[in-house]
Amino acid sequence: MSDDSGSGLSRRQVLAASGTGLLAASTQAPAHPAARAASTRARGAGPGGSGDGTPEQIHLTWGDDPARSVVVSWASPDQALRPRVRIGQRVIPAEERGYSDGLNGQAVWTYHARVHGLRPGATYGYAVTADNDGNATDPFSATFTTAPEGRAAFRFTSFGDLATPNTSWVLSYGQSAYAVGAVESFQPLFHLLNGDLCYGDLNPAAQPDVWRDFGNNNQASAACRPWMPVPGNHEIEFGNGPQGFTSYLTRYTLPSNGTPGLEGRWYSFRIGSVLFVSLSADDVVYQDAGAFVAGPGALTPAPSTGNPPVAAGTSFYVRGYSGGAQSRWLETTLAAARRDASIDWIVAQMHQCACSSSRTGNGSDLGIREEWLPLFDRYEVDLVLCGHDHDYERSFPVRGFDIGAGSDPATGAPVDTRRPHPVTTVDSGVFDTSQGTVHLILGCGGTDANLDVFGANASAPSAGALEAKVFTHPNRPVAGGPLTSAPGVYARADADAVEDATWSARRDTATGYGIAVFDVNPGSEAGGQTSITVTHYHAVGADPVNPATGAPGAPTDDYTLFETFTLVRPRSDGRRWHAKQSTAAIGT
Ligand SMILES: [Fe+2]
Repeated sequence: MSDDSGSGLSRRQVLAASGTGLLAASTQAPAHPAARAASTRARGAGPGGSGDGTPEQIHLTWGDDPARSVVVSWASPDQALRPRVRIGQRVIPAEERGYSDGLNGQAVWTYHARVHGLRPGATYGYAVTADNDGNATDPFSATFTTAPEGRAAFRFTSFGDLATPNTSWVLSYGQSAYAVGAVESFQPLFHLLNGDLCYGDLNPAAQPDVWRDFGNNNQASAACRPWMPVPGNHEIEFGNGPQGFTSYLTRYTLPSNGTPGLEGRWYSFRIGSVLFVSLSADDVVYQDAGAFVAGPGALTPAPSTGNPPVAAGTSFYVRGYSGGAQSRWLETTLAAARRDASIDWIVAQMHQCACSSSRTGNGSDLGIREEWLPLFDRYEVDLVLCGHDHDYERSFPVRGFDIGAGSDPATGAPVDTRRPHPVTTVDSGVFDTSQGTVHLILGCGGTDANLDVFGANASAPSAGALEAKVFTHPNRPVAGGPLTSAPGVYARADADAVEDATWSARRDTATGYGIAVFDVNPGSEAGGQTSITVTHYHAVGADPVNPATGAPGAPTDDYTLFETFTLVRPRSDGRRWHAKQSTAAIGT
């Protein structure tokens, strides 16, 4: 089942997205009594402003300098009075950011305390409270560790597509709780969360309550170490801002990208000798997978929002929303990193995939290949971490692209997919990423729709070869035709092209769930080699139904080794770097 293409929506997804479900669903009891109480109050309407300001959904992100700054963020059921963080003898007031959900009108209060002046590589205790904190006598407290300075060893972890453990919500699943526990079990310095955080958009009557369950589930880890997110297609919500990102942007305070009006959507941060670049791929992908009203009814917001109904067949398609600003920022950022002899590695994080051969998922997208892979080639981006397809897949190092490698699956006509070109197809376990970029699909967090079925080409001339689907055009909603037979019901088509996935090195067909652990070894001498050891652990048996065996499964905390491999590259303090050709086409 593909949650994103629209062609494979489950019945309950259709109901949730159709608009016919909103008013009916809004009469149902929310999952939490406290949420119900919050949802019945207008913003700021607590008695005398003294409602429940108890901190919840507490999470950390890096400040602009991860060695010296963090941001503590949280929410509370009502407006908090004097929200603040205490670290030692310092009391840091929090900035308040609130909004009213554009579909059900529920008030959301969030708080953000920017903590500066910390020491690198140091562990701090902190407490979060407010004057109307129900736990004021024993406020929430935890510890975190700042980033090291200079070339230092550290560990980070990653997955995307997490959802919540509350199975009342569309695409939520119990694995989501075990995934958070898995992060804690590896004790990373920080975690990368690769988009599709909670699927609020698929629960349009209850978006804030879904975010609340997500935040409270994550708190077990994210209050102890930064979780750095990127927005995915399911962060795009009707009624919530120009790109639908209001729920996301209000809850997270992220490093500045210096782009007025577009802050929070993409950013970079540096840890030791690694630059992390976190991107908003909805800006460049062709595929249409944001919020969508399948019909036949309209999606009708609560009257208190003042928002008009969203007509059947409407999808929230934001390709090109930055007007090229994100790609210009990306090139400037990558170029500066490669001029900096103290930065060895560049790791990119985004939601959608340039290199996925999932058959039941979305596959690959030409938009990323056109817009960003030439920059990844030119500036030697080492590693790209994605989500979106709910599985694990690793590419060989790729550089440049093969021309004439794609085709229309219906007609066989050639389609230019700019197929990434593997620089080796020997799966040696050690890859020099100064020669090519490794892509990892890590959509294996916790959502309930595993997509761990991979394509195989059934027909000559390459029968048996691994096949990938590729979006090369927008798949805007259509009614009727082969996709939907119900009157007035819309659907979005699957990817429109296929190619032999010569770039695909390893796929996990045992389970759609796992966590990747990255250990950075900075090397010991100028001009020497540095490495990142990547270990993927997977949760065998967690697939609700394993597609290969048909075996029923259930959420599990049993994460075991799937594979390990090592990335190497020369340190930047021992060579002069020269820009690569940006558009190296390789004929096939
Ligand atoms: Fe997605």
